[in-house]
Formats: sequence, structure tokens, C-alpha cells
Amino acid sequence: MKLNYRLIIVLGIFIALFIYLFITAPPSLESDLSVKKRFAINDIFKQLAAENDVTRTLYTKAIVGAGLKQGLKFDENWAMDDVHAGPLPALLLRGISNSMSHSDIAIDLFLGSDFPIESSNKFKGIQAEKFEEIRLDKQAKFFYDEVSDKYIAMFPDYASAMPCVTCHNNHKKSAKNDWELNDIMGATTWAYPKDSLSTDEALKLLAEYRKGVKKTYEEYLKKFDIQTTGNPQIGDKWPSQGFFLPNYQTFSDSVGKLVSPVILAQYLKIVDDKK
Ligand code: HEC
Repeated sequence: MKLNYRLIIVLGIFIALFIYLFITAPPSLESDLSVKKRFAINDIFKQLAAENDVTRTLYTKAIVGAGLKQGLKFDENWAMDDVHAGPLPALLLRGISNSMSHSDIAIDLFLGSDFPIESSNKFKGIQAEKFEEIRLDKQAKFFYDEVSDKYIAMFPDYASAMPCVTCHNNHKKSAKNDWELNDIMGATTWAYPKDSLSTDEALKLLAEYRKGVKKTYEEYLKKFDIQTTGNPQIGDKWPSQGFFLPNYQTFSDSVGKLVSPVILAQYLKIVDDKK
């Protein structure tokens, strides 16, 4: 009899514990954190801008600049089957932008200017107004646009490498022919419908950006699958070393090395601000 009482008490404790843990217990701290909107969209815009700066500058200097010297070609119509050339830096960005717009995350990316080569890249409305301010104070702009009901960030786009200057100055459709190194040539505009994001949403944005780079860059490398002669060797070497092109992994590793300290510093600043 005594033993049965004990058994009933122990069982009772187990049942109570089971109910507490699995039925009435509050959600774990981890799942609670992951749905909190921890990040201000402007901080995430800054991360994306850093990633984009590094990607485009590396592509412009190490692939386009050095590649042209090796005889590689870059063309506005690069995506057409019969054009055996790579994307111009602005069109790499267009590829990334298209890929992101097809993802399930509602982010827009646009590269515009007041003196564009392509007239559809000319800023309009509130973005044209804000770009005038950027020309004066050289500062990124963050604002809410009532017309599109979106939060917007505009980052000045600098002529950070000589190929930016020479190509734009010599282009027949260019609205301006006296660009100089380090001029503000335009602005990268990001737009997002919410002012704050969860950790998952923030990571997803960066992941979608990288996916866009991978997709566009690998589309370029595919051009060399078809033609058998006169192709650069694709692997872990760069055009500065000879007739080579880095594969996506090599390119992405370099971006990662360059951008990691910047993104980590931004995360730590967010952490410090929340203390
Ligand atoms: C080999 C030529 C070439 C190089 C190099 C180049 N661009 Fe462009 N860029 C273009 C062309 C062509 C367009 C228009 C593409 C389109 O939208 O169809 C363009 C578009 C742009 C735009 C959007 C406004 C416009 O002019 O249509 C900006 C801003 C821009 N480039 C800045 C840069 C910067 C900064 C660099 C260097 C990091 C750079 N470009 C390198 C050819 C070039």
C-alpha cells in the first residue's frame, strides 16, 4: 500500500511537470526573441549599402578594370545569348535588383542619377529632391515616401574606380562627359514597406542580396561554357594574374573578407545602442 501511494505521488509530480512544461509554459526566450522587431530599417539599409559598395567596387576594379586589360568584354547587352560579354557594374546591380524583386521579401533596389546614361535612370519626384540635397552635403538620406508608402534610403554612389569615369565620359548616351574620380555619379536607392525588422527578416535581406550576386555572376560565367576557344580559365585566380576569372565562391570569399569588419561593427553599434 505504502509503495502505491509513493507511486501515485511521483506520477502526480510528473503529470504536473508535463503540463507546466508542454502545455502552460511560456514560449522559450529564443522563439520570443526571434519574432521581435529588433532592427530599425535604416540600420539594415546601411548594412546592405556596405555589402553593395564592396561588391560593386570589387567587381568594377578586379573584374571589369583588370578584365578589360586581359581582353575580356563588358557590354550593355551582355544578357543576350549571342553577346559574349559580361555585365557592366550598373547591370550587375540591375541583375541583383531583379533577383531580389522576385524573392518573397518586398525590397526595391535602384541605381539612379541626375545625369544618367540611360534616361529611365533619372531620379524623379521626392528622390530627385533628396538627390539634390545629397549633391550639397554628400550625406545619405533616410525618409518616408507617402506616394509609395515606403521607407527609403539613398546612398551616394561614388566614382570609386577609374573605369567608372572613363566609361561614363566616353559613352555616347551619357548626359555628362566630365566626371572625375570620386565624384558622386548617382545614388543607390533602397525601399522597404516597414520601419523595423526581426532578426530573421534582416538576415533574409542580406541573403537575398547575395543570392542576386550569385545568380547574375554565374549567368556571366555560363557564357564561357558555350565557347570553347579563347575562354578565360575559371577558378581561384583573378584577371590581374592573367587570363582568369574567379568562380563565384572565390569572388564571394573576397567580398566576405572586405565587408565582414564593416557589418560586424554595425551590428555591435546596434547592440551598444540597445544597452
Ligand atoms: C564599361 C562601362 C561602365 C563602367 C565601367 C561603369 N558604368 Fe555606370 N553605367 C554604364 C551604363 C551603360 C549605364 C546604363 C545602364 C542601363 O541602365 O542600361 C550605367 C549606369 C550607371 C548609373 C545609373 C545612372 C545612369 O548613368 O544611367 C550610375 C549611377 C553609374 N552607372 C555609376 C557607375 C559607377 C559609380 C561606376 C564605377 C563603380 C560605373 N558606373 C562603372 C556604364 C558603365
